[in-house]
Amino acid sequence: MTTNRRWVLAKRPQGVPHADDFKLEQVTLPELQDGQALIRVDHISVDPGMRSRLSGDSYAPAMAIGETIESAGVGKVLASRNAKLKEGALVWGGFGWQSHFISDGRGVQALDPEIYKDKIKPTAAIGVFGIPGLTAFFGLFEIGKPKEGNVVLISSAAGTVGATAGQIAKILGCTTIGLAGSDAKCAYLKETGFDVAINYKTAGDLTAAFKQAAPKGIDIYFDNVGAETLDAAILNMKKHGRIVVSGQIAEYNAGENPRGIRHTLPFITQRLKMEGLVVYDYGVQFNDARAQMAEWVRTGKLTYREEIIEGLEQAPKAFVGLFTGESFGRRLVHVAG
Ligand SMILES: NC(=O)c1ccc[n+]([C@@H]2O[C@H](COP(=O)([O-])OP(=O)(O)OC[C@H]3O[C@@H](n4cnc5c(N)ncnc54)[C@H](OP(=O)(O)O)[C@@H]3O)[C@@H](O)[C@H]2O)c1
Repeated sequence: MTTNRRWVLAKRPQGVPHADDFKLEQVTLPELQDGQALIRVDHISVDPGMRSRLSGDSYAPAMAIGETIESAGVGKVLASRNAKLKEGALVWGGFGWQSHFISDGRGVQALDPEIYKDKIKPTAAIGVFGIPGLTAFFGLFEIGKPKEGNVVLISSAAGTVGATAGQIAKILGCTTIGLAGSDAKCAYLKETGFDVAINYKTAGDLTAAFKQAAPKGIDIYFDNVGAETLDAAILNMKKHGRIVVSGQIAEYNAGENPRGIRHTLPFITQRLKMEGLVVYDYGVQFNDARAQMAEWVRTGKLTYREEIIEGLEQAPKAFVGLFTGESFGRRLVHVAG
């Protein structure tokens, strides 16, 4: 008999989520049926995009009260009656905030030992090679359409999406400007190769700060935050600039009162384009993108930063910390810790 510990949604958050919005439960798992495998979940992710699904429908339906919080996870197959999932194999999938997962094989993939070796840790499967890294890749290539010499501005640049987008833009020969909420994060941006790092909390007038960093204007704004930062970027875009709407974290807790965009005229005068993405739309290309990013990681052109929080009990707190600026890099929870 296996006991599963899992975090479920206790109530819908109002504003910034709180640990009380979640409830920790223990349940005994049923015996495995033919075709099933039991996975011990080792690491789970906490993701800003999950915020909207705690309150209502997003591009995926709202989470129900009492449902296990969904997330990516990496784990090990403990027992298997599924030919595809071998006992002892390291796997990743949408395991949720829980200690164990019974899978019928759908949506679970074994980690390729050819990729996950040396400096590439299994947790990279749910970080730089997972949804955040892929969002950077497809947002930049498919919407940003970078060209050598372009000036690329990236918000929440010390997060996995932002840091990956910045490093890929650099590989392609762009000039990169990263925004982050502390001097330590700005120092990290410089280490990863950003040309300019701006602490948006201390920079004062952001429109002026962007003008100073990019006097001839911005070709691509890779937006992870929305609100006033987006407005300041719009005012600094070059003609035919592209705005990639990856995330809007400054709006996620705003409910019915989003802060919104005020400056729309530059869309006409500068012939701007602004387009959002849902990374899952590019699913058929994920493996090719991962292979390219693995090559960049192996050759030292792309680095990633993980922040591991110990203990499944800490998952709600780890999630809340995404909205306070406490998180730094890919925030994961080590379940058994
Ligand atoms: N479109 C898609 O398919 C897709 C897929 C995955 C992720 N996303 C989005 O991509 C964005 C980045 O994701 P990530 O996983 O790499 O997370 P992340 O950037 O690490 O997000 C957490 C960070 O966001 C910043 N932040 C929090 N509240 C903020 C606010 N009010 N204003 C400005 N910055 C704030 C904080 O950093 P600072 O200290 O720098 O403020 C915080 O540490 C998120 O918005 C996410 O929803 C989109």
